[in-house]
Amino acid sequence: MKIIVCGGDGFCGWPISLHLSARGHEVVIVDTLVRRAADRELGVDSLTPIRALDERLAAWRAVSGWSIPWHAIDLAHAYDDLLALLVRERPDAVVHLAEQRAAPYSMKSPRHKRYTVDNNVNATHNLLCAVVESGIDSHVVHIGTMGVYGYGSGGGTMIPEGYLAVEVPTADGQGRIEREILHPTDPGSIYHMTKCLDQQLFYYYNKNDKLRVTDLHQGVVWGTNTAETRLDDRLINRFDYDGDYGTVLNRFLMQAAVGHPLTVHGSGGQTRAFIHIQDTVRCLSLALENPPQRGERVRILNQMTETHRVIDLARMVSAMTGADIQHLDNPRNEASRNELPAVARSLISLGLEPTHLQEGLLEEVIGVARAYAHRCDKSRIPCTSKWTTS
Ligand SMILES: NC(=O)c1ccc[n+]([C@@H]2O[C@H](COP(=O)([O-])OP(=O)(O)OC[C@H]3O[C@@H](n4cnc5c(N)ncnc54)[C@H](O)[C@@H]3O)[C@@H](O)[C@H]2O)c1
Repeated sequence: MKIIVCGGDGFCGWPISLHLSARGHEVVIVDTLVRRAADRELGVDSLTPIRALDERLAAWRAVSGWSIPWHAIDLAHAYDDLLALLVRERPDAVVHLAEQRAAPYSMKSPRHKRYTVDNNVNATHNLLCAVVESGIDSHVVHIGTMGVYGYGSGGGTMIPEGYLAVEVPTADGQGRIEREILHPTDPGSIYHMTKCLDQQLFYYYNKNDKLRVTDLHQGVVWGTNTAETRLDDRLINRFDYDGDYGTVLNRFLMQAAVGHPLTVHGSGGQTRAFIHIQDTVRCLSLALENPPQRGERVRILNQMTETHRVIDLARMVSAMTGADIQHLDNPRNEASRNELPAVARSLISLGLEPTHLQEGLLEEVIGVARAYAHRCDKSRIPCTSKWTTS
C-alpha cells in the first residue's frame, strides 16, 4: 500500500511510519515540524535526543534500505499543496495525526485555544475536502481520543465503540423507533473539543461523499520505543515529560528516574485509558490492512488496552522505585473521581495482542529516562496551564 502519514515526525507518527515502512508499505511523511517549534516556544526538549527529521530518515534508509520521502505541508493552511500531493501520489490510505495534541497546551491562553481549534479543525477538514476533490478513494485513518466521551463520573454506563443504540419516540408519540447514533461527546478541554468536531467532519464526509474513514479513539500512550526505533540510536522516539505535553505514566516513570516526587493532580481518582506505543503502532497497521468498504459508515474503534486510576499508577511506580508521591492542586476542571468502562474488542478481534502494564516494560521506560536524566529540566515538570481563571 502507498500510505501518507500526516504528522509522521511526532511521538506516535514516527514509530508508525517506520513500522509501516518495515512491513513493506510505501510511506510518505507530511509534517511541518510544528511540534518541535512548540518545544522551542515552551523552552523544553524531548528527554531523548531526537534527531532532525532528515537525519532520522537517512538513518532509516541506512538501517532498513527503505526510503521515506518527507513534505513540509501545513495541513491546516496549505490546501493547494496538500491537494497536489494527493493527486500526485494517489495514496491507498492517509493516516491523519497532524494535530495539536496536548490538552494543557490547548488551555494555556486564548492564543493557544484559538491555535488548537484553527490547526486541528482546519487540518481535518482540508484533508477530507482534498481527498474528495482529488477523486481518489483513499482510506482516511485518524487517531482521536477516548477523552471525547469526557471524564465524568461514568454513571454506570458502558462506552461503546462509537455508536450508541437508542430508542426515540415516534412523531405521533405512540411508539418507539430504534436508532444507532454517534455516542454523545463531552469534551473536557479545547483539545478534546477539536476531536469531537473532527467526529462530525468524518460523519458528514462519510455520509455525503462516501469517504472511507476509520477513527481510532486512543487512550493515553505510554512507553517510548518500538521494535523499529530501537534498531539505531538515531531512530529514537521522543519522550515528553513537561507539564504540557508529557503524558501521565511517562511523567511518573521519568520523575522516578530523576528523583522527583510523582506529581498527582488532585486525589488521583481520575481514571484514564492506556495503551503502549508498540500497540499503537500495531493498531494502526491493523486498521489500515482492514479498511471499511465504500458506503460503510465511519468505523470507530476504541484503541486502548487497559484503564487505571492515576493514584494507582503512582502507587505502582512508587512501589517499584521508592519515589514519593506528591498531591498537587488539579489545574483541570474535572470530576475528582471517575469510571471509564469501555468496550475495546474490535482491534483484538483484528489480531491485537495487548501489551499490559508490567514491571519489565515499566523498567525499560525508567531505563530510557535514567539514560537521559541529565537532559531533564526539572523546572519544566510542573503543569502551569489552568482550565479556569478563578
Ligand atoms: N500521545 C498520546 O498519548 C495520544 C493519545 C490519544 C490520542 N493521540 C492522538 O494521536 C495523534 C498523534 O499524537 P502524537 O502524540 O504523535 O502528537 P505529536 O504532537 O507528537 O505529533 C503530531 C505531529 O503532527 C505535526 N503537525 C501538527 N499540526 C500540523 C499541521 N497543521 N500540518 C502538518 N503537520 C502538523 C507535528 O509537527 C507533529 O510532528 C494526535 O492527533 C493525538 O491527538 C495521542
